[in-house]
Amino acid sequence: MNNKKKEKILFVDDEENILEVVREYFEFKGYAVATALNGREAVKILENEKIDCCFTDINMPEMDGVQLAEHIWRTDNTIPVVIMTGKPTIDYTIKTIKHGVVDFLVKPVNLNDMELCLERVLNQRELFIENILLKKEVEGKKRLEELTKQLQNKVDDLRILNKIISEFAEIGSTKDVFKRLVDMVTEISLADMSKFYVINWPVNRPFETVSCPETSGPEIDQALFERLLMNITADGIPFLVSENRGVEGLSGDILSFMCVPLKIRDKIFGVLTAYVAHGEVRFSEKDLYYLSVMTQNAAQAIENLALYENIYENLFATLYGFVSVLNARDSYTQQHSNRVTDISTIIGRELGCSTEELDMLNVAGRLHDIGKIGIRDEILLKPGKLTKEEFEKIKEHPSIGANIIKNLGFWNREINIIKSHHERFDGTGYPSGLKGKEIPLLSRILSIADVYDALASDRPYRNRMDEKSILEYLQGGAGTQFDPEIIEIFLRLYNEGKITE
Ligand SMILES: [Fe+2]
Repeated sequence: MNNKKKEKILFVDDEENILEVVREYFEFKGYAVATALNGREAVKILENEKIDCCFTDINMPEMDGVQLAEHIWRTDNTIPVVIMTGKPTIDYTIKTIKHGVVDFLVKPVNLNDMELCLERVLNQRELFIENILLKKEVEGKKRLEELTKQLQNKVDDLRILNKIISEFAEIGSTKDVFKRLVDMVTEISLADMSKFYVINWPVNRPFETVSCPETSGPEIDQALFERLLMNITADGIPFLVSENRGVEGLSGDILSFMCVPLKIRDKIFGVLTAYVAHGEVRFSEKDLYYLSVMTQNAAQAIENLALYENIYENLFATLYGFVSVLNARDSYTQQHSNRVTDISTIIGRELGCSTEELDMLNVAGRLHDIGKIGIRDEILLKPGKLTKEEFEKIKEHPSIGANIIKNLGFWNREINIIKSHHERFDGTGYPSGLKGKEIPLLSRILSIADVYDALASDRPYRNRMDEKSILEYLQGGAGTQFDPEIIEIFLRLYNEGKITE
């Protein structure tokens, strides 16, 4: 038997055997449990007992679940109601959330899902009551009413979007969940920008994955900002700066900031951030509450996806684990990969690549040299010129990288991009000797960004090349090493100052 919990949960269902099973399970888990066979019985219980959360079936005699939810909403809107039903439609969702329904479970419901949902709902309720209702109450009833109305409007939006997230989860990928998450944050909190970072625990650093909008935003001191994120992550609790008056790690250009760690199975996996850099919007506890609800829902979706995708840990942790192993040996590769990703994305955007292609470039860019993990230190880190044999070994890294990604069983499209990033336009590259447009477009982009950044960096065996020589080299490689059309675009972007180191 677990520790005694104080919360009392009311379960309403017209099937007695379901109520029995649920009662036994949740009492075993330490909750106090009340049960009712229909809405009318439930109302009687609510009149006499203090209930913290209610789970109800929809179709029941005398008074159904929707009527019960409406009743609870009118009498005590701090009691969250979870509806257990067949697949709800969006219309139906909107109708019921207006009456205080906070979540849906699709029948047949398993006990574990119910428990997770209950924990989530109780957490949200705690935040709702402590941070919003009670604190604001002292500011006067009118303000409270106004706030409740505003909150309700936003909660309506939020519920719909949450519903979309869970529907998305059924068909999407983990990456789509992150993207959806940052999109939702900017939409709901009116943030100028929202970003999601995965925490790369082996190196103790946050790693940016998606951003909305996909622009770079104001100048920030990356190292200080990362340290701030890691501190918040270590605390594991949501963080709000309504009005930035010089918080360490936050650039002065950021006026308002909030950030919520995302936990999966009690382990912090990432952190969701949002900020305002212009205008009048300032974040409040209410916005922080929305962010918390969103991260909890996203975590649930990711967990489901991780099971679905049959990945032991999870997708990003696995991959970035590889990157960090490589980084521990060769710190150049990770920084280089990030710069190559940035430059490729700028070129890709100019070429009119779709969001999906830009996402692929993001993954392939960051992981393009992952195959170097398979190259021995004495070759990979050799300060002098490589022998012919050693160079042959280095040439294996695109194929090794493609195999690593392949063995993880996902991201098929990215595999080819990684594999082909050392192909040459004239067909003399490696590993397959592909020619011209046989080379995937995104690889042709990646190879220009890759060579540009390599030449512009100091390496153990040579110093960086000067700007003029780099540009001459790239221009000279048009049609032999590189796709001439993309080189033209690259040089134009470079001359317009859009590509900087
Ligand atoms: Fe490479």
